[in-house]
Amino acid sequence: MDLKLKIWRQANTNSKGSLKDYQVKNVSADSSFLEMMDQLNEELIDKGDDPVAFDHDCREGICGMCSMHINGEPHGPESGTTTCQLHMRKFKDGDTIYVEPFRAKAFPVLKDLAVDRAALDRVIQAGGFVSVNTSGNTLDANAIPVPKADADAAFNAATCIGCGGCVAACPNASAMLFVSAKVSQLSLLPQGKVEAKERVTNMVNQMDLEGFGNCSNVGACAEECPVGISLENIARLNREYLSASLTSSK
Ligand code: SF4
Ligand code: FES
Repeated sequence: MDLKLKIWRQANTNSKGSLKDYQVKNVSADSSFLEMMDQLNEELIDKGDDPVAFDHDCREGICGMCSMHINGEPHGPESGTTTCQLHMRKFKDGDTIYVEPFRAKAFPVLKDLAVDRAALDRVIQAGGFVSVNTSGNTLDANAIPVPKADADAAFNAATCIGCGGCVAACPNASAMLFVSAKVSQLSLLPQGKVEAKERVTNMVNQMDLEGFGNCSNVGACAEECPVGISLENIARLNREYLSASLTSSK
C-alpha cells in the first residue's frame, strides 16, 4: 500500500515543532507500524535527510518504550495493542496517517516522536518498591497465603508496562492510571502492606510534583491502555490515599 504520513518533527526540547509531509510506497500490510517507520527512515537516510527519532526497544509489546500518538490515539487505532504490535493491515492504501509524540507537560519532547518519560521513573523511585528482604532467607512462595482475588488483581495491575499512553490519552495529562497500577500491584499483597501508607502518599506527591494533571474521571486512560489496566485501580488508590491522609501521624 502507498501511504501519506504527517509526522511531527522537532529538533529538540526547546525548538518549535511542526507536522511535515512524507510518502511511503509499497508498504506490506504484514509489516508493523514501526517497520513502516523503519522503511521511511531508510529512505530518508539514503537521501541524506535526518531520520525520524522515535522510541522502541522490545517490539513485542512488553517494554513500554514505543510511544507514538497515531491518528489522535496513543498507540493508534487498535485497542489493547502497543504501537510496536500495531500492523499496517489496520490501514488502507492511500490513507493519510498523523504521527505525533505523546503530549503532556511532564513528557517534554526530546526529538521528533521521542519524549522524556523519566517522570514516571521518579514516581516509582518515590515508593514503587517493597523494603522487605526478598533475597537470602526468602520464604517459600506458598508460605504466605494470599486470597486468589487479591493475587489476580495484583497480577493484573503488574502488567502495566509503564508506556505513558494513559497520560497521553487524558485531557488533563493525568498519570493516575499508571500510579494506581503501581500502587495496587504492591499494596494488594502482604509484602506490600508494610509501607502501603507511605507508598501511596509519596507516589501521589511525586506525581503532582512532576506536573501531571488531576484525574477528572474521563476514563480515556483505561480506554487507550494497551494492556487493559482497569479504572478500579484508581478507585483503590483514592481509597488508600484518603486513608493514609486521615491516619498519618505527621
Ligand atoms: S496504565 Fe496502561 S497506558 Fe498507562 S502506563 Fe501502564 S500500560 Fe501504559
Ligand atoms: S517496543 Fe516494547 S512495548 Fe513496544
